[in-house]
Amino acid sequence: MKRQYILLALMWLSAACAPKAPDTEKQIDAILSQLTLEEKIAMTHAQSKFSSPGVPRLGIPDIWCTDGPHGIRAEVLWDKWSQARWTNDSCTAYPALTCLSATWNPELSRLYGESIGEEARYRKKTVLLGPGVNIYRHPLGGRNFEYMGEDPYLSGIMVVPYVQGVQSKGVAACVKHFALNNDEVNRHTVNVNVDDRALYEIYLPAFKAAVTEGGAWSIMGAYNLYKDQHLCHNKTILMDILKGEWGFDGVVISDWGGAHDTDQAIANGLDLEYGTWTDGLTTGPSNVYNRYHLAEPYLERIKSGKFGMEELDDKVRRILRLQFRTNLAEGYGHGRFVCPDHSAAARKIAGEGIVLLKNDGGVLPVRDARKILVVGENAVKMLTVGGGSSSLKAKYEVSPLDALKARFPDAEIVFERGYSSGAARAQDGISAKFDLAETRSAEQMVADAVAAAVDADYIIVFGGLNKNEHQDCEGVDRLEYGLPYGQDALVDALAATGKKLVFVNISGNAVAMPWVGKVPAIVQGWYLGSEAGPALADVLSGDVNPSGKLPFTFPVELSDGPVFMEEQYPGIRREGEDIIDEYYSEGVLVGYRWYDTKGVKPLFAFGHGLSYTTFEYGEAKLKGRKLSVSIKNNGSVPGAEVAQLYISDPEASVERPAKELKGFKKVFLQPGESVTVTFDIPDSALSFFDADAHKWTVEPGEFIAHVGSASDDIRTSVRFNLH
Ligand code: BGC
Repeated sequence: MKRQYILLALMWLSAACAPKAPDTEKQIDAILSQLTLEEKIAMTHAQSKFSSPGVPRLGIPDIWCTDGPHGIRAEVLWDKWSQARWTNDSCTAYPALTCLSATWNPELSRLYGESIGEEARYRKKTVLLGPGVNIYRHPLGGRNFEYMGEDPYLSGIMVVPYVQGVQSKGVAACVKHFALNNDEVNRHTVNVNVDDRALYEIYLPAFKAAVTEGGAWSIMGAYNLYKDQHLCHNKTILMDILKGEWGFDGVVISDWGGAHDTDQAIANGLDLEYGTWTDGLTTGPSNVYNRYHLAEPYLERIKSGKFGMEELDDKVRRILRLQFRTNLAEGYGHGRFVCPDHSAAARKIAGEGIVLLKNDGGVLPVRDARKILVVGENAVKMLTVGGGSSSLKAKYEVSPLDALKARFPDAEIVFERGYSSGAARAQDGISAKFDLAETRSAEQMVADAVAAAVDADYIIVFGGLNKNEHQDCEGVDRLEYGLPYGQDALVDALAATGKKLVFVNISGNAVAMPWVGKVPAIVQGWYLGSEAGPALADVLSGDVNPSGKLPFTFPVELSDGPVFMEEQYPGIRREGEDIIDEYYSEGVLVGYRWYDTKGVKPLFAFGHGLSYTTFEYGEAKLKGRKLSVSIKNNGSVPGAEVAQLYISDPEASVERPAKELKGFKKVFLQPGESVTVTFDIPDSALSFFDADAHKWTVEPGEFIAHVGSASDDIRTSVRFNLH
């Protein structure tokens, strides 16, 4: 008893100083020496869908995880995915991470992290299952909306403040899905074949930044395989790279059901196993959690002498370290849940992430409207529901239709559905609250929309994808690049009216727009969460001047892109096995790196995004490795511009992409105001990963630094030599 109190006192002392206490490791040693083998084993695997046990006799609390990454998921039952039907778990829904990335504003990433961290803390969660930073490799990827786009540099810069923001509230971020989980189809059996150069240059940097700069306290293994080993217990990725090269001292958590092999789980770096198949405590064996790989099978292996205590002590040490950083730490307070500040944060991030793709003739912002015809399901459908584990039970979600009515009280606002996606999608017992029974044919819906346009000044279509299966949804990929539900015919018919037509594309993915030439204004509207409607109305009305830039390319057609062979995606089934091999033979030419290098003109380029004002760039000047360029707002309204620095290495011993993003700055300027933006060009901006030598290399020779408003809108370039 006495020892227990001493231990508790030591823990509290240590916790009071967390997370920086120098003696935390000593406290962990002390705890480890008190734990029985069975207690240690228990700590390494789940006891319910989202929790793993602590050690009550020592005052060590349970760990509670929550999805992530756009809001705090509703409580589910102890051992079921169904919602627990609490009445106090409706969260603030934040914009999806594609939108956050589109702000190109790391300060907003910090704000996002802090706000969602507060919501997680309030709900007493230890680990937030997010953010996700898998690279956008292919526009059909069902989970692209949860990630930060196609560029490793942009994702790396944006993920760090999110992680730090969450963790500043005493909640561990869990960066996912590590690594190479770039599509959903066959996600448990896909074995990724990728060369080391692409691995290090494209697929790892954002994770590395989250770990080494963001200081992430946990990371989630991916479902798929690499080198024939599942990524939740993959020696190369977890032991050699994450814990070896990057010195990660946090916890590797399996994706839910991602562990498949006990010996590998023990030896290859998995620390905490969640979600391995259970069919509920009532119909399965007496306690299915005991049958997890890191449960009885692990215990048996230790008892038989197959494994010693070294791996187990390391896992438990990491788990305890995470607890000293979170639920055993003091000074973080209780957090906040659904409050005006969080709504304001969601609206601000959404407003800055919305991208104005096209605005011919200055159709936007909406001015002097007497009648606005709003068309499309996405003007009224709840888009926080569905899509898989990121689905939310939001406290509220303001629809674009309601927000436009509020913003333009003097205008007549008429709604026409225009197309139908079928039945409303429900998830976790929450319905998308959109159940317009539809008896009309697709043609009739189009005809009705056209008829309603008669005396409208503006037609604003809210279309795109949604969170249904095979749209933007976990577990499955999209089936087609084109817009679903006959939207192309709808847009064509509305364009033929000759009215001022605006298409707002709601999606986390690129889509085909065969009608692009006929529609004067196009807006990328993402999934924006609770404040979706107000944020869209802010931009459409001009209350907010758009400043988002695309974090991924919109190709004209899917076949224009780097991934066009079956072996690249969805892969080839190995004879006589369940494994499906995907070959990332495009190497480092992912996203704009491909389009630029191959000279293929996209529909909308990476980094593209217009404003209601215009920006004039001066000439780039280089002093040593410092580049400076002036930017002037030469329009008549305040606005923000993202100046993007790209580097070209025209003479290299390996094929390098035509150019690569290596810096960006977002500046806010009043009309007529100008500012000088500076960029450092460190060696890391010039180097490539030399796979043979297994290190980053800079070769002497000529380089070009480009600064522009988009990857296809370079305003000034300067050449320099490296001797
Ligand atoms: C998803 C994860 C999620 C987990 C828990 C998995 O299916 O891949 O992203 O965090 O479930 O819901």
